[in-house]
Amino acid sequence: MEVIIAKDADAVAELGAQLVCELLNKKPEAVMGLTTGSTPIALYQKLIQRHQQGEASFRAITTFNLDEYIGMTADNPQSYRSFMNRELFDQIDILKANTHVPSCGLEDNPRAIGAAYERAISVAGGIDLQILGIGSNGHIGFNEPCSSLSSRTRMKILTESTVNDNSRLFSAEEFQPHLAVTMGIASILESRRVTLLATGAHKAEAVRDAIEGPLSARCQASALQMHERATFIIDEAAASCLEYGDYFRWANSENTPIIEKFGNFYELD
Ligand code: PGA
Repeated sequence: MEVIIAKDADAVAELGAQLVCELLNKKPEAVMGLTTGSTPIALYQKLIQRHQQGEASFRAITTFNLDEYIGMTADNPQSYRSFMNRELFDQIDILKANTHVPSCGLEDNPRAIGAAYERAISVAGGIDLQILGIGSNGHIGFNEPCSSLSSRTRMKILTESTVNDNSRLFSAEEFQPHLAVTMGIASILESRRVTLLATGAHKAEAVRDAIEGPLSARCQASALQMHERATFIIDEAAASCLEYGDYFRWANSENTPIIEKFGNFYELD
């Protein structure tokens, strides 16, 4: 596991953008796993800037988002499809037909949607780089505490803590869904590389449990300990509960000349 502790949220986004652009340079037709939430917005801003400066093209990529609320139509501004269009897709040269969100209407069978989503990822060749955030309860995607660590794309009922965390984004009269379709932990672990971004002190305990805690369904992000190429990019505040924080800082400085000479093991060949 690679743990990079950056100065602040802007530096986290910058490192995330560098990683995405390195992938695009190597593989313009990459398959990317994307996420929503407050954390990736700064990363998406940096990608949009790079695109506007002619430094990055998304024309050939395919994307799969982690999750979507059940019963949210794509045109609902609260849907994750709308979020992605607004925060990224409408501002870059991506082909919308190549962007996927696990949309599930109230009349749709979530089991069928989940299986079809898994098939679509597999037909696209699997995900090269999955970007993740982390919930304050340790969830990745909407895999809530005590989800199976072998889970696949399916329906999840959100915990009260997640509903409360997300309530800031809904006005009092707005419908806030409690059901979602999410890629599973096994689906996420199949990505060739995963990068989790976390910023802020409110994520510090979840980050500690994910990186240093026991592998446990209680902290879903701890499953990334089992991934060969998992990188955490976190700011100082999110790193503030780590027992091994100084070790990670030291390891990064020791690694720098090795990476310069041989490349980063975590990069895809
Ligand atoms: P946030 O959400 O980026 O809005 O904090 C992260 C998550 O719940 O996965």
